[in-house]
Amino acid sequence: MNIPITLEVKDVSKSFFNQGQVEQILQGVSFKVKKGEVLSLLGHSGCGKSTLLNIIGGFEKIDSGQVLFEGSPVLGPHRQCVMLFQNYGLLPWRNILKNVEIGLENLIKNKSLRKEQALHYLELVGLKDKAHHFPNQLSGGMQQRVAIARALAIKPDLILMDEPFAALDTFNRYYLQDELLRLQEQAKTTIILVTHDIDEAVYLSDRVLIMDNNSGNIQRELKITTPKSRDRSHGDFQYYRTLIFNEFHFNQPKRQVEYYI
Ligand SMILES: Nc1ncnc2c1ncn2[C@@H]1O[C@H](COP(=O)(O)OP(=O)(O)OP(=O)(O)O)[C@@H](O)[C@H]1O
Ligand SMILES: [Mg+2]
Repeated sequence: MNIPITLEVKDVSKSFFNQGQVEQILQGVSFKVKKGEVLSLLGHSGCGKSTLLNIIGGFEKIDSGQVLFEGSPVLGPHRQCVMLFQNYGLLPWRNILKNVEIGLENLIKNKSLRKEQALHYLELVGLKDKAHHFPNQLSGGMQQRVAIARALAIKPDLILMDEPFAALDTFNRYYLQDELLRLQEQAKTTIILVTHDIDEAVYLSDRVLIMDNNSGNIQRELKITTPKSRDRSHGDFQYYRTLIFNEFHFNQPKRQVEYYI
């Protein structure tokens, strides 16, 4: 079956200007994502994963290259795409129900329907009973679950997730990974996920892209063909896990910093 391409990252380069120096983060990064695909980006800390995700979401400008979503250039944040930030991105002055409702304000005008939808997604992440708590009254893991509920509630075409389960304990992580897959299967949402967790990448992804430490380029692409839901103790799972682990075994030289004259 010929599945259409939904996102195309074409020869993207990005540098930051840090304390008098130009730091080249991404250099000629290219890849395509199919509609309904779950794609993981793996790489060492600082290799540019969050930067790349921010670029795809339209939150960060690029120096050169192009990002196309459904054939149109991404020039800023777009409604069909939601981003789950590494630091949750919750508004501290709103209770968590109101935090989940934010994204729905333009989509559902009827207040009680909006509340119902938000509560449904809070229930899904096991936090319906905390709907009137404020973010600072919740643990880090709970805040992350609120952020996940908020993203899912909008039913976007593309979800960008930056280490969405990192702060969760194992049980909540496994539970939410399964919920995410279940919802993704229903809605056929495309998901791009940044993670440090090799098991998570193998469990969730159709494809894993391993980023190079120096240029952010795609050093290795791995298709995970085992049907979902996957058994973490199965030999296939261990096979992919080992492949990725070996990829990280190479001692990567540190990024060179160019001096700005
Ligand atoms: N807004 C910014 N201004 C200046 N430098 C930045 C900015 N954002 C990121 N950087 C730099 O870009 C590099 C890549 O950062 P990025 O956050 O993309 O890494 P990462 O791969 O997500 O790392 P981690 O796994 O630790 O989250 C880092 O050296 C960082 O200091
Ligand atoms: Mg990051």
